Parts: sequence; C-alpha cells; structure tokens
Amino acid sequence: MQKPIKASAIANANIALVKYWGKRDKKLILPNNSSVSVTLKDLHAHTTVDFSKNYDRDIFILNRREFRVGTEEYEYTELFLSLIRKIAKSKLRAKVVSNNNFPTAAGLASSAAGFAALAAATNEALGLDLNKKKLSMLARRGSGSATRSIYSGFVKWRKGKKEDGTDSYAKQIADAKYWPDFRIIVCITTKEEKKIKSRAGMAQTVATCPVYNGWLRASKDDLKSIERAIAKKDFTLLGKTAERNCLKMHAIMMTTTPPIFYFNKPTIDVMQSVLEWRKEGIECYFSIDASPQVKIICLEENIKKVKEKCKHLKGIKKIIITKPGEGVRIIKKHLF
Ligand code: DP6
Repeated sequence: MQKPIKASAIANANIALVKYWGKRDKKLILPNNSSVSVTLKDLHAHTTVDFSKNYDRDIFILNRREFRVGTEEYEYTELFLSLIRKIAKSKLRAKVVSNNNFPTAAGLASSAAGFAALAAATNEALGLDLNKKKLSMLARRGSGSATRSIYSGFVKWRKGKKEDGTDSYAKQIADAKYWPDFRIIVCITTKEEKKIKSRAGMAQTVATCPVYNGWLRASKDDLKSIERAIAKKDFTLLGKTAERNCLKMHAIMMTTTPPIFYFNKPTIDVMQSVLEWRKEGIECYFSIDASPQVKIICLEENIKKVKEKCKHLKGIKKIIITKPGEGVRIIKKHLF
C-alpha cells in the first residue's frame, strides 16, 4: 500500500467591493473585468486532501455529504484535481473532505474559500511548491473568486489580457491589519442553496444582457475609485462605490433573458433600511453577491448601532460580524 500524501488547508471567504461578473474564457476562468475584494476573517473552508493508490476514483465530501459522479460539485472538483495531477505528473486519485463554517452555496463565497483551500492543500500534498502568484492562478481554475482568497486583507484580481491566462491572478493591496476598524456584517436571510449558480448566471448575462458593455465600462471607473478609497482609507468613497457597483451588477442580472433575481423580500428590506440608517447618520453600505444574503459594511464606531437595528429586521435569520482576515494557510489538523 502506498503511503498517503495528505495535507490540509484553511481559506477564508471574500466579499467583492468591485464585483467579477462575466468570463472572457470559460475553460480557463478568465474574467471580463478586474475585481477587488476583502478577505473575511470569520468565514472559512477547512479542506483535507489525500492522494493515494487506494482510490480508484476521486471522492468529494463537503459538509459531511458525499457528492456523486455527475453532480456539478463533483465534476468541478474532479476537473480541478485532474488539472493538478497534470501539473504534478501524477496519476493518483484523491479523497477531498471539506467543511465550511458558514452556509454552503447560499452565496457566501463558499466556492472561493473551498477552491483556495483545495489549491493550497493539493499544492502541499503533491509537493509542488507553487508560490502565491501561481497558487492564485491555480485557485482561479476552480472558481474565479477563489483567486482572491489566497491573500489576506484587501485584494485585487487583475483580469489580464493574455489568452493563456498567465497574467490573470490576484495581488494584495493591503493586509488584514491595514484598516483596523473596518467591519463587515453578514446578514443571512436564507440558508437555502441559491437557485442559479454564479457560473450559469454570469454566462447568461454575457450572452443576453443588452447593457453588459455598460457594466464593463462602469466597473473600470469603480475599480479606480475603490483603489483610491483603500489607499486613502476614505470609507465614504469605498462604501458608496461598493454599493453602487453591487447595484449595477444586479441591474445587469435582472436585464438578462430570462431575468435573474437573487434578492428575496428580506434582502430588499435590508437594502432599504441601510439607506434609511444612513439618513439617520449611521454610515453603512450594503453589498450583495449572487444570493439573497446582504453584507453591510461599516466602521467599528457604528457596529453596535447597526447590530441593534439588524435585530429589529424580521427577515434576518443570523448575523455574523467580521473584519478583514487572513489568506490561505496550511494546517496540521486533518479532517480524516
Ligand atoms: C457575484 O467565482 O463563484 O460573487 O468563476 O464561475 O466559479 P465562477 O464564479 P464565482 O463568481 C463570483 C461572483 C460574485 C462576485 C465576485 O465575487 O466578484
């Protein structure tokens, strides 16, 4: 029996301040626009991978549920493992076990955390010794947003221009300690899995949205504003830019054929409340990804007030208060 090659990693989820929505290459997962995110301290995926002759096919278990051959989750994981096997010139099949400490596939960047952790764990297990840039490119092949979860703090994913994707990877803008009073309140409005996955949603948008080019133009300006806001720690500029960028993304989602609505009623309630709270002098902004969950961005000085306000909103099932967090790391604790 061959000695198992096992490794574990933890990667945190991230929330985009300037969103990635649409691919220029679906196979290589190359985006149409650059994006900027914050890695989140308290939402993570813990993944263990074991390559061994004992497996005659890959095995994928996520949150104690085994995914069968043919499911989307299994196929994406298998594709990723095949890619890493090609790089490592290995024929060994693998068992992957991963646990998220937050609702999976409910639009909280579980694929970002999951594939960033899987990239780091497979790199370690097969002794590939990839640097962070290469790891970021590898994670991208699992899920676009995973490319950013390699790094801590504020992170930019440059879309790149090359056809082979070798210039499309993430870079850190500032580390997790850079903006100590920066807070993100994750408002969970449903624990159900989202109905339309990002991958299908963005493909449909690129194919059918008549104003998609407007999104691409606007995201270039938003990128400049966000980078300026981070450099100057200008919270107002950051919040306004992130909120508007999110609304623009949802506008292009809604104007596809058939239309895609990720919001539920509580989502809209939280959005409208945030606008009201700002009028009352509580500076906070919302951001929503491909799901009904709302992330509220504010500074530490307003956290108590926002938390109190959230308690009174009926549709919020759970809140998680978090801040900029760590990048991917290898850990000794294995899940099996
Ligand atoms: C709305 O990274 O999940 O969260 O690359 O197809 O796996 P794939 O998509 P994914 O899309 C994330 C979309 C988003 C915006 C963002 O995180 O930038």
